[in-house]
Amino acid sequence: MDRGAPEWDPTAYLRFADERARPFADLLGRVGALDPALVVDLGCGDGSVTATLLRRWPRARVTGVDSSPSMLAAAAAHAVPGRLEFTRADVRDWRPDEPVDVLITNATLHWVPGHPELLAGWAAAVPAGGWLAMQVPGNGRAPSHALLAQLCRSPRWAARLADAAPDPDAVLAPGGYLDVLTGAGLTADVWETTYLHVLTGDDPVLRWVGGTALRPVLAGLDDQAVASFTAEYAAALREAYPQRDDGTTVLPFRRVFVVGHRAG
Ligand SMILES: C[S@@+](CC[C@H](N)C(=O)[O-])C[C@H]1O[C@@H](n2cnc3c(N)ncnc32)[C@H](O)[C@@H]1O
Repeated sequence: MDRGAPEWDPTAYLRFADERARPFADLLGRVGALDPALVVDLGCGDGSVTATLLRRWPRARVTGVDSSPSMLAAAAAHAVPGRLEFTRADVRDWRPDEPVDVLITNATLHWVPGHPELLAGWAAAVPAGGWLAMQVPGNGRAPSHALLAQLCRSPRWAARLADAAPDPDAVLAPGGYLDVLTGAGLTADVWETTYLHVLTGDDPVLRWVGGTALRPVLAGLDDQAVASFTAEYAAALREAYPQRDDGTTVLPFRRVFVVGHRAG
């Protein structure tokens, strides 16, 4: 996310808490650390998935880092003094000031232009025996995002929204991340998954995107324009993701997973 970007809304983000927590669990499933002393979660959001790390590593000190005051306000409820702490920083300015045994960044770096260079720096700093784990959505070309970009650039909206259109190339192909990790001397475990999220209710894809990619687009509009842009986008989404006979709507969602390890 750019500095000065619109504020996150933890309530909107958590509407699909279960679906959003699953990739974090799948990512951590490939991290083999047994008894890390220090674990850092960059872009920790509301801290709910960060807090699960206390059960996984009962002796670790865990730090969550995020730039959003509203996300950090929600995260404060999960803090455990001396065990789980949250701190405000932009990940672009964050550098490890002591060895980090497990460095995690989940569903965050797609908001950070130029993140492969950051990742390369963090990978180089992984100590012997340490782990680096990253997950990013790889759905920049999915209809949800392509339609949003198309609408932003349409004649009606381009003057106000062309610059806000989501970038289809915000993340690398999986092989690009593998190169970053191996370039830093880590062994790399990289894969991709497409989850088929089964959503319920009316306009569920709009509600999903409303917690993430749609936010920065609507931030630049007044209330009337928000209503009219949202109506146009909702209609396009209904066509791309039709409601099924049983009332559910399937949202295919591709994600890219990257785990690096330095032999101890
Ligand atoms: C989609 S949420 C993911 C939250 C959490 N990792 C999870 O898996 O639920 C993305 C988070 O990244 C944070 N973020 C985005 N850009 C950031 C930056 N440059 N520095 C720090 N945090 C950032 C946002 O504030 C937000 O809380």
